[in-house]
Formats: sequence, structure tokens, C-alpha cells
Amino acid sequence: MIWAAVAWAPVVFAESSKPGCPAKQHCISREGLVKEAFCKVDTVKGGTAGVLAIVWETLKGPACLGMRYLSAGESHGPALVGIIEGLPAGLTIKEDYINQQLVRRQGGYGRGGRMSIEKDRIKILSGVRFGKTTGSPLALLIENKDWLNWQKVMSPDPLDETGERKVTSPRPGHADLAGGIKYFHRDLRNVLERASARETAMRVAVGSIASLLLAHFHIISAGFVVAVGDVSASPRGSELRASVIKEKTANSLFYCLDGEAEQLMREKIDQARKRGDTLGGVFEVLVEGLPPGIGSHVHWDRRLDGRLAGALMSIPGIKGVEIGLGFSAAGRPGSLVHDAIVLDDHNKISRSANHAGGLEGGITNGQAVILRAAMKPIPTLKKALPSIDLATGKIKDAAVERSDICAVPAASVVGEAVVAWEIAKAFMEKFSGDSMAEVEMAWHNYMELAKRYLGGNKGIQDIGEM
Ligand SMILES: Cc1cc2nc3c(=O)[nH]c(=O)nc-3n(C[C@H](O)[C@H](O)[C@H](O)COP(=O)(O)O)c2cc1C
Repeated sequence: MIWAAVAWAPVVFAESSKPGCPAKQHCISREGLVKEAFCKVDTVKGGTAGVLAIVWETLKGPACLGMRYLSAGESHGPALVGIIEGLPAGLTIKEDYINQQLVRRQGGYGRGGRMSIEKDRIKILSGVRFGKTTGSPLALLIENKDWLNWQKVMSPDPLDETGERKVTSPRPGHADLAGGIKYFHRDLRNVLERASARETAMRVAVGSIASLLLAHFHIISAGFVVAVGDVSASPRGSELRASVIKEKTANSLFYCLDGEAEQLMREKIDQARKRGDTLGGVFEVLVEGLPPGIGSHVHWDRRLDGRLAGALMSIPGIKGVEIGLGFSAAGRPGSLVHDAIVLDDHNKISRSANHAGGLEGGITNGQAVILRAAMKPIPTLKKALPSIDLATGKIKDAAVERSDICAVPAASVVGEAVVAWEIAKAFMEKFSGDSMAEVEMAWHNYMELAKRYLGGNKGIQDIGEM
């Protein structure tokens, strides 16, 4: 019976690939997986079980990975590290660009003292040679300058436990208490060091590399602040090109497009600082240049809307995400929400508006992708909230770590980065290849095909913004 499984195996290899992960890209050796699958199957039962085991091993997550990254590092440890896998060979890596984004993440009005200590810079340890990716994993490092002041407190050496800077009064709004219970830590520093948004520096580095990949295909993402506390800015970014947004935000302390609102934002932050309080806000990310067809409607985890919302929601402090009209669509009739499909003056398919935020059915529709994220106020308050000292069981104010008053501008940079990463990942699922040359070919072919698709339709020559 086992031979039945062997006979099936080539069929399985030829025809199956995890949706969103074409077989040719970054799949762990299938022979290895099949051997493993056989080992798990009782050879006496063999047959169907064997085939099913192979199908499962071939389809399940780890077999096909696409682009992925991991990061590690504590807020006051020696460094943040990251590993990116699945980038095509031949992508030009501009360290200056990555460093500029790291500087932006450290900036914005309302930051705390830590940012004046750190001067984040990327070190590329592997996967890039003479300025281009080789196809091997990229290893990245960002050193924490503050580590010099924390060597004893953060020592990995078991003999060095000092009890210094132990945290036993959990801060409401942080992972302190829930993480302490979950990992059974009495010293909550073991939780907060990793839960800290310091790790977003690596996310920005990784996202900047994704942006470089996207820029090669004229896809640009731009993040900017639209509200701080109860002060809202205008105009909406959807009215502007990404390059204009980038230019304007570069000259703004709030990475905002509205000079007047910025003055008010500044006052609000100064007032909050005086009160020992903090503020949140909203940022927007616009991505332009996307072809229609990235993401998919066919399965829940391939829907790009869900993936982007998840990416934004994973940023510390983000409590709401909107796409296009977002929450305001719920209060309008359908006729005032959905973007009519029309022909423009050049007889090209176009849309009456972009209320959908560039995504329909989990797929890009060729319009700019527009996302918004709401950040709660920073949870570490100088005028600390009530808490309990877990060491004594007595009421005690929450611990106070050095902290920002408002980090919405910085979060907009992180938002831009995580969106770029998620879009680049979906882009590579569609235009998969081991080298940039291969990706370019797949991209060109698809663009031609898309034009042909629309060209057959009464002289429509092109697709909207393409
Ligand atoms: C860029 C950035 C900087 C942040 N800085 C601080 C800070 O200085 N102090 C603080 O308490 N929280 C800060 N936060 C928010 C917390 O990390 C976050 O609220 C906390 O980890 C709990 O996660 P949650 O709000 O997603 O539940 C920052 C978040 C971001 C994105």
C-alpha cells in the first residue's frame, strides 16, 4: 500500500502549493517533508493515510514560507536583531534610506528622554554584497546605546541578578500584569523589556527594505499624522500624491500636513506634559502605484485588507484601524459609499471616488490604498495611575519608566513600515521569483495581461492609475 503513496507523490508535488506561495519560492525541500511524512505513517496502514500525510505536509504552513522576518531584542539589552528571509537576489539596498527612516521613528514632537540617547543606525551583517541582496537571509542589527547604563540590570549571566530596577507595580495599559501572570514573572521587567515599543525600530528597518523593493515597481507608501488628542488636521492624504506627503511631513514636527493644526497639537502636548498626562491620536498611511490584483478574495488569510489591518493593529498602542471610509461608511447608504465604475475622458476604466481605500474583496483595485490607525494615549503616566505592588499586595502607584508624552508621529513611521512589509509580501506572492529579474518578468507579464483583459472590452486600453 505504501507504493500507492509513492505513486501519488509526484502528482502532489506537481500540483500542490500553498495558496499565496507558489511552489518555486522558498519552499523547504519537499523530499525532506515527504520522508518525514512517511516516517509518521504506520506502514501497515499505509495507503490513504500516507497520501493524506504527504498532502498535509506539502500544504501546511512551514513548507512554503514566502517572505518572513523575525526580530529579537530588549529595550535596554545590547541590541535589536532581525532576520529577513525570502527577498529576491539583486535588490539594491540603500543603508542611508533605512537610517533616515530610523531617524524619523525617533523623532516627532512629544518624545521622551530615551530618544536623545539613542542614535539608531542599521548594521547589515549578511545577505547583502556590494549593495545588493544575494538571496540569502539578511541579518540586521541596531545597537542600543543605553545598554551601557543597563549592563548589570539586563545581564544574561545568572550570577549577576541584582534586584536593581525590579518592577513589581504593573502599569495599567501595558503588558506588565497580563504578561507577568502568563510567563510567571515576579519581576515585570522581564515582560516590559520586550513589550516596549523599542522593538518597532527593527520593524522600521525591515519595512524600509520592503519599501525599497516596492519602490523598484513604483509603489510608494507614505505615513502621516491626522490627529493628536482632540486636534484634527486637514487635508486628508488621499487628496495628495505620496511624494508630496513625504516632502511636507519632512518639514513638520508632527509629520502632519496642516501647519495650523500643528500649533494646537503642540500646545496640547505641552499641557499634557505639565499635568503628567499623555495623548494619543490617529495616523494615515497611503500607498500609491499598486496594480490591481494584489491579495485575494479566495481565502480569509489571503485577504489583503485583513492582513494590513492585522499588521497595523500589531503596533503597540494601536486600538483601531480603518480602510477607506472606514467606520464612517457604516452610517451612510450604499449609494454614498461604493465607488461607481466609470470611463474617464480617455476612455479608461476609472472610479468615481476612492471610498473603498483601494481594496475590494481583499484585493487591490488599482486605486491608492488608504489606511488609518488610532493610537491610544501612552500608558506610562508621570502622574502614575493606581496599581498594586505585587511584592507586598499593597496599593501602590504604577511604576514609571522614562516615557513619551505622545508617540503618534513615530507610530506613523512604524505604520508606513509595517504596511510596506505586508504589501511587499503579498506582491512577492503574486510575482514570486528568486531574483529581481525573475520578479520583473512576472510583473511585466501580468501588467500586459491585465491591459489585454481590459483592452478587449470596447476599446478600454488601460487600468485606472496604472
Ligand atoms: C513608537 C511608539 C513609542 C511608544 N512609546 C511609549 C512610551 O514611551 N511609553 C509607554 O508607556 N508606551 C509607549 N508606547 C505604547 C506602548 O508600547 C503600548 O501601549 C504598550 O506596549 C501596550 O500595548 P497595547 O497598547 O498595544 O496594548 C509606544 C508605542 C509606539 C508605537
